[in-house]
Amino acid sequence: MVNVTINGISIAVPEGFTVMQAAKAAGFEITSLCSHPDLKVRDNCKVCMVDINGELKTACAETVTSDMVVNTYSPEIITARQKNLKKILSVHPQDCLNCARNLNCELQNLANTLLIREFSNRPLQIPKDRSTPSLVRDMSKCTLCQRCVEVCNDIQTVGALEVANGIVQTVDGLLLAETNCVVCGQCALACPVGAIVENEEMDKFLAAVADPDKIVITQIAPAVRVAVAEAVGMPTGSLDMLKFVAGLKMLGFDYVFHTNFTADLTILEEGNELLKRLQTGGTLPMITSCSPGWINFIETFYPDKLDHLSTCKSPQQMFGALAKTYWAEKMGIDPAKIYSVSIMPCTAKKFEAARPEMNSSGYQDVDLVLTVRELGKLFRMEPIDFDKLAPANFDSLLGAYTGAAVIFGASGGVMEAALRTVYEVVTGETLEDVNFNVCRGFEGMKEAEVDLAGTKVKVAVANSLGNARKIMDDIKAGTSPYHFIEVMCCPGGCIGGGGQPIPSTIEKRKERIDAIYAEDAGEPLRKSHENPEVKFLYEDFLHEPLGHKSHELLHTHYHPQKQ
Ligand code: SF4
Ligand code: SF4
Ligand code: SF4
Ligand code: FES
Repeated sequence: MVNVTINGISIAVPEGFTVMQAAKAAGFEITSLCSHPDLKVRDNCKVCMVDINGELKTACAETVTSDMVVNTYSPEIITARQKNLKKILSVHPQDCLNCARNLNCELQNLANTLLIREFSNRPLQIPKDRSTPSLVRDMSKCTLCQRCVEVCNDIQTVGALEVANGIVQTVDGLLLAETNCVVCGQCALACPVGAIVENEEMDKFLAAVADPDKIVITQIAPAVRVAVAEAVGMPTGSLDMLKFVAGLKMLGFDYVFHTNFTADLTILEEGNELLKRLQTGGTLPMITSCSPGWINFIETFYPDKLDHLSTCKSPQQMFGALAKTYWAEKMGIDPAKIYSVSIMPCTAKKFEAARPEMNSSGYQDVDLVLTVRELGKLFRMEPIDFDKLAPANFDSLLGAYTGAAVIFGASGGVMEAALRTVYEVVTGETLEDVNFNVCRGFEGMKEAEVDLAGTKVKVAVANSLGNARKIMDDIKAGTSPYHFIEVMCCPGGCIGGGGQPIPSTIEKRKERIDAIYAEDAGEPLRKSHENPEVKFLYEDFLHEPLGHKSHELLHTHYHPQKQ
């Protein structure tokens, strides 16, 4: 431990702490812009100036030493911070009123905190990049913090962004869609301002609700359940799901379903696909296919390894195909009138829904994808007191789910859900303890060996594309020891998806993971094959996993992209 004095308070902090961390431990939050709790120190905004032993220095970049004396507040310090912030603001557009980050922007907060009222302003004029269906880049708002570059290059290993000639840009200044970007949206989560944001499409939802000829239905992804509370200003995981359904109906949705339903269905299809590959010598390891950022990644960087992917569509797309076929038929509704909206933790889902092959119903299977952040904005248009709302049930036929589907939202959840079902199918025995703790947690890589009636099955779980790359390099080298691998594009899984509420720090992602497993533990049914509506779907319509109808509606093919 190291002893430092901060604003006259003596405190012992761990060695290696920055002055900013030590000040926080002593109760003083220092203003900052470029620093981020999960990323490297950049030391480029200079709005965290403090007095260290009589000299003005940046608190994020200085490491504590013993007997250091720090002051975080004086007229001289505030003036230095204001001066540095005004330099950033001098080229920043004053667009707060029509900015996607309005009221959730670190620069806006900082200007308010530091009492900036007047400054000279000649904003940069840079056209917006709207080349992908998922993200919008407005580099006139960039503060050059470089957080996005680190996330894209070091964590996701995609390399779509770079620092060149003193600015942050896409590689070679291309449009985002022309780079290898997989539209994961992790850069948007890291960005302190509105320079990279989700492609907002709330207006399309409002237009659909206003159209009397449209029947507007929705599906909510597993990872939305816990994070949506944050988007409406409540603690993580605290929004009662049945009140959430009531809120969605108030917004104008005619039917509210759950992607959890097709998450359970995915387990039946994917579990049987794995068994078939094990029994018939099919391509192994088989890798999960529900994360569209991951699909973009393997299609871009490992196009000759696509046969390792499960042919299952993602739960979002399975739902979209079933809603406009099976459900429409059951309800006697013309599928042309159905406007299918999914609420997702993910920006890559917007890209996935727009893929030309995702139309096995004869229509675009999912018409619109809204992120959790966009849904939060819709809810704030007509603020709802969820406590006072009468609960409403999910609609039937595509609305029932088990705890196995709930955990799809966390890294390792798909693997655990699959093991719960595959174990019972293979052994014919009841799995008494359904908790595969080895699959859980935030670590980037997890592995296990499961005994299935004498057959040892080696499984691995990877989250973030950097870890997916390691898995793929082993497969390419022929050294992968696994039979089944779960890959999720985003750190922590979908709870850390690019469309989730900001902040999405590691601490926040861990809270969401805890909330997910707490929900699973409280579910009366916790194995996908026990889902009563999934059982009925097979009896009534699909007949068997991997059967003809499943292949038509629930499975797909992958294609090499770019490069
Ligand atoms: S990025 Fe922040 S400061 Fe800039 S226009 Fe948007 S809300 Fe305002
Ligand atoms: S969306 Fe993902 S891949 Fe694309 S630039 Fe951002 S971090 Fe990189
Ligand atoms: S785009 Fe955002 S995250 Fe990237 S450097 Fe600019 S301000 Fe920072
Ligand atoms: S927060 Fe310290 S230099 Fe940016």
